[in-house]
Amino acid sequence: MSPSVLKNSVLNNSTIFNNPEIVAKGWYIVCPSRQLAKGKIKSFDLCAQRIAVFRGQDGKVRALEAYCPHMGTDLGIGDVVGNQARCFFHHWAFDETGQCRDIPCQKHIPAAAKLQSYATEEKYGFIWVYPNAIAPTPVADFDELKGKETVAKADKPLIRNCHHHICMMNGIDAQHLNTVHHLSVDLELSLERDTHRNTIDFTLSGDMPNNNWYARLGRRFLGDRYAYSMRYAHGCIGLLTMMKDVRFLPPLHMLYAYVPLPDGSTRIQPVYVTQKRKGPIGWIKNNLLLLLTRLCYYALRGEDGKIYDNIQFTAQNLLSIDQPLVEYMRYINQLVPSAWSSIQPSASDSPSSSKSPPTNSIPAQPAHEIKPHALNHSLS
Ligand code: FES
Ligand SMILES: [Fe+2]
Repeated sequence: MSPSVLKNSVLNNSTIFNNPEIVAKGWYIVCPSRQLAKGKIKSFDLCAQRIAVFRGQDGKVRALEAYCPHMGTDLGIGDVVGNQARCFFHHWAFDETGQCRDIPCQKHIPAAAKLQSYATEEKYGFIWVYPNAIAPTPVADFDELKGKETVAKADKPLIRNCHHHICMMNGIDAQHLNTVHHLSVDLELSLERDTHRNTIDFTLSGDMPNNNWYARLGRRFLGDRYAYSMRYAHGCIGLLTMMKDVRFLPPLHMLYAYVPLPDGSTRIQPVYVTQKRKGPIGWIKNNLLLLLTRLCYYALRGEDGKIYDNIQFTAQNLLSIDQPLVEYMRYINQLVPSAWSSIQPSASDSPSSSKSPPTNSIPAQPAHEIKPHALNHSLS
């Protein structure tokens, strides 16, 4: 790794990272699929928008901006008729593109009788919405699970009192594994980005720690080496794969879905995911692996909460060991703002050229340049 990587101009001009006024284009989690039965409609507050989500009689989920263009009634209190959302008040009906298709009292449909529609997807047991009618890529996958049937289990959502870009970094903060979680690890980093899919993958690998009893137990059974990877998608989903390349266990998968809340805090939805195995033995195996994933998450969750509930984030004194965090911030700053942002950068105010609030500025280079500390860096 070379500290010169930190001199990229993107690092000096942050518009998206830790900016509560920008909502990046990406998939945002809405509710568990089972909460929306066929023929039902509900409204949700999502990234400061009111969104009506409904499941047509064909079983497909659709999403529209919630307030009716006639007099502003929330479509969430209305009905689903066939595959259309019908307003409770005067029964205007809207199709999945947001176009009004029926006004009971007259034949003519005014040109303005339409709503913004949003792309939707059902994955990992949840409904997801994208802040645009068309999403260029689906909700992110784990590489090992691509194309396979999966089973997912959600844990209780939690709130962190900071912007989601800040608490998302926890998984790649190498120093804190030692200081907060007491895991003495020297990790090597490899990095891959896929700008088309708006994802970035961090893989951290090293010797299995042996500085406490559970680390020693793990080392005995699982082997000497350990690796985990964190895939960030659209700056609002973190896909964590643990126990890579260890003995006896397949990789364990979980994701964190982040939603910014109006008060500046973040709702985090953890979901455990595994490949679906068939039959009664498969069922037992699925549930054991999901339980193990949960236990690993609980063991590592530790005291992270009190950090993020009190943090006033600054990045003025990052060290070389913090390189993954800098790469992450650069990745965030090249994402694309959505129409849900409360400010829209102008052409001259692109992610790489605008002014930024002081707390967002990222230093051109580390204040104290220490040696790379077993942290190898490769960009591809
Ligand atoms: S307010 Fe929706 S149809 Fe009148
Ligand atoms: Fe942590």
